[in-house]
Amino acid sequence: MALTRRQVLAGGAAAAAGAALSGCGERGARATERTAAANGARPAAPPEDLSTWAGVRRELPLDPRVRQFSAFLLAAHPRPVRAAIEHHRALLDADPEGYLRSAEDRADPAGAAARYLGGAREDIALTTSTTMGLAILYRALRLRGRDEVLSTVHDHFATDEALRLSGGRVRRVRLYDPRAPATASADEIASRLRAAIRPRTRAVAITWVHSSTGVKLPMDEVAAVVREAGERRGAKVLLCVDGVHALAAEDVRLPGPGIDFLAAGCHKWLMGPRGTGIVWGTPAAWKAASRRPLIPSFANASYGAWIEGRIPPADPPGPAMTPGGFQAYEHRWALPAAFSFQERIGKARAAARIQALATRMKAGLAEVRGVRLMTPRRPEISAGLVCADIAGVDPGAAVQRLAADRISATVTPYAERHLRFGCSLAVDEADVDAAVAAVARIARGG
Ligand SMILES: Cc1ncc(COP(=O)(O)O)c(C=O)c1O
Repeated sequence: MALTRRQVLAGGAAAAAGAALSGCGERGARATERTAAANGARPAAPPEDLSTWAGVRRELPLDPRVRQFSAFLLAAHPRPVRAAIEHHRALLDADPEGYLRSAEDRADPAGAAARYLGGAREDIALTTSTTMGLAILYRALRLRGRDEVLSTVHDHFATDEALRLSGGRVRRVRLYDPRAPATASADEIASRLRAAIRPRTRAVAITWVHSSTGVKLPMDEVAAVVREAGERRGAKVLLCVDGVHALAAEDVRLPGPGIDFLAAGCHKWLMGPRGTGIVWGTPAAWKAASRRPLIPSFANASYGAWIEGRIPPADPPGPAMTPGGFQAYEHRWALPAAFSFQERIGKARAAARIQALATRMKAGLAEVRGVRLMTPRRPEISAGLVCADIAGVDPGAAVQRLAADRISATVTPYAERHLRFGCSLAVDEADVDAAVAAVARIARGG
């Protein structure tokens, strides 16, 4: 009989068998739920009407006096997510070990992610952030001899550093002019990428939506270029994507469009619990990678193998690649509430709303004298992020001026600094118009 970590914690095989026979696991869980109820975990209040955008916003506990263009950076927990966190927290507080044992399988965050995104739950590793996911992913790539990873000059620190720390050979391509990103085009991006892939390119490491400029890579075209390059040389090139500013800002559906690996935090546009994320790979991509976990997995199969003196199995890859150690389980287990919140809003509807708000903001900013829009206006190559420069005004100073008007914006955290707005579901048309008017005042020197 293979022992699992939970059975070991519960006192070994005899305890596990005894619990199963007597049903005391279930009874214990019910007693814990009663204690937790006394400790303050209450059933969630009825949901708001999510068919209206005002209803969606009422589910967000944001300060109503601030126009929130930074809520995409780190999520405010929508009410159902908060309720789920509180629920699990109270039960864990009441009986940490008992609730851990009874709830771990039932919570099924990977299953919820698979339902929302498509794909299979076994192919999804759970992480705490995009950064952790990228580190796991790039370390797992199997590079031989003079194999290289082709990345770009537009990626976030997390991709650049994860690649550097992986120890692999990395080359970077410029997909568009970073000084004039608004003029980027799908054709230019695809042809620059095509020209940059070499026979030694084993993987392409890119970011779907650039937080430096707001440019969204045309993923269908990018995937076609990468696929064809693999076909030409007779060995697949893996397409690895930082998808954090696409997840829930775009209608992302997996498997596809030709993506082999996608890493994303769930605590940005998805509005999932802070400190949650995923890495998804196609079964073939996981097989092609080494599935050498960065951090030992606490999956039952991994832990059980160790107890029995075996090497933990590489399959299924999701659990095997999920970093172990005890976690902030109340956050991880509340992830399904975030996916179902988004599903109740409607994936395509949410993406269209974000696109419409960003389009409105770009149209407004384009009219302002002294403002240079950095993000392309066409929805094919832009998503929810809007970057701009105000002539003669440092982006940091602009952010401060906006904050004085109770408008929360950010500066792009890159060497090239721009003023940046995230048009998430936390804002509406009036917020967008107010932000454009405030930028116009700053541009006028007022
Ligand atoms: C493109 C991109 N990738 C990764 C990250 C880091 O995300 P996380 O906090 O989920 O690691 C950010 C910003 O926070 C980002 O803009």
